[in-house]
Amino acid sequence: MNKKFFLFISILFLTLATSSAAVYKGQKIFVKECVKCHASGQVFVATQNMKDWKKLMNKNGKGLADLHLGKEKAKDSWEYFDSSIYAKKTKHLEQFLVEYAKDSGNVPACN
Ligand code: HEC
Repeated sequence: MNKKFFLFISILFLTLATSSAAVYKGQKIFVKECVKCHASGQVFVATQNMKDWKKLMNKNGKGLADLHLGKEKAKDSWEYFDSSIYAKKTKHLEQFLVEYAKDSGNVPACN
């Protein structure tokens, strides 16, 4: 195996490992923070297209936060959407949501 090829393979594996780790982290956030109100995670994630999730998660998830902060019914989520924990982890959440969006063709293995 030549050096360049080895390097290429290493980078490929690293990239794959980090991106699936982010999706996994995002799934954990989703299960912990969203499923209590949006029952049946898989079905819920698949209600939006990749484009819609990306839009909602734009600017550190501002769209998604605003959507909840403006709804009396979502009151129990306000503390979360207002917190820095939410803002810090939106990248992971976005990766998960986009990965399993309606038009992604993927289904989460577990929920
Ligand atoms: C405290 C309950 C609660 C939590 C927690 C919560 N939501 Fe919501 N969510 C709501 C309510 C209520 C609405 C408004 C639904 C409506 O107007 O009928 C909503 C609307 C939405 C919508 C708009 C889609 C639609 O059907 O109108 C999306 C997308 C969404 N939530 C995603 C999430 C995600 C992702 C999380 C986790 C980070 C989350 N929600 C956490 C209560 C919650």
